[in-house]
Amino acid sequence: MALSKRLSAIASMVTTEYDEIWDCCCDHGFLGIELLKQNKAPKIHFVDIVPELMQSLRNMLERFSTDSQRTAWQVHCQDVARIDPSPNKRHLVIIAGVGGDLLVQFLSQIVLRNPHCQIDFVVCPVHHSYKVRSHMQTLNMGLVDEQIVCENKRFYEVIAVSPLSSEPLSRIGNKMWQLNSKEHKAYLQQLRAHYGRMLNQDAEYYQGVLDEYKALDC
Ligand SMILES: C[S@@+](CC[C@H](N)C(=O)[O-])C[C@H]1O[C@@H](n2cnc3c(N)ncnc32)[C@H](O)[C@@H]1O
Repeated sequence: MALSKRLSAIASMVTTEYDEIWDCCCDHGFLGIELLKQNKAPKIHFVDIVPELMQSLRNMLERFSTDSQRTAWQVHCQDVARIDPSPNKRHLVIIAGVGGDLLVQFLSQIVLRNPHCQIDFVVCPVHHSYKVRSHMQTLNMGLVDEQIVCENKRFYEVIAVSPLSSEPLSRIGNKMWQLNSKEHKAYLQQLRAHYGRMLNQDAEYYQGVLDEYKALDC
């Protein structure tokens, strides 16, 4: 089955050499399988909390792995917040397809519990990218790459960050915006309308957010 546009965009953002890549909240494992096929790292971890999903993924990987791939993957049925990447290795943790609030919790826990690990992240939240970006700023992550993906009339931000990057991470995105793209204009309108509606919940906070998006000349 062809990989979705969104998951393809995430896979294409894996350009650095890592020892281990973690496909977190992997569901059926489509992304991790693609990374395995593309030989993106010597070890790909698949993590999800649903036992039936993980059992059928394990069965499928055992059945279809080539000899050289057999040691290149590991399936973990567990909470993403409790993954334990080993120190002294370079890790990429990918978290996609979950809401921004949950993603923020995963990021906090993973960073807090693994202070001696070198971990880069690629995230693609469902909504609330502003909140996720703000949180990643507090974790001292710098920008590696970012991209807007439109799939089935929904917009997603794919954001790659690293503690080793000195490029500042923007809360509203920076180099991902293409000012002449109709799609990007539509996404920006959507964000402005959303934060406009949020003003009645916390006018001071959301006015600040709205002003940032309004200042984008697109
Ligand atoms: C919509 S799927 C995302 C699949 C894929 N990453 C994508 O972007 O298309 C969300 C997955 O997150 C998993 N999930 C939710 N909370 C989790 C947690 N605390 N730990 C591990 N997996 C979790 C769910 O079981 C589900 O399979």
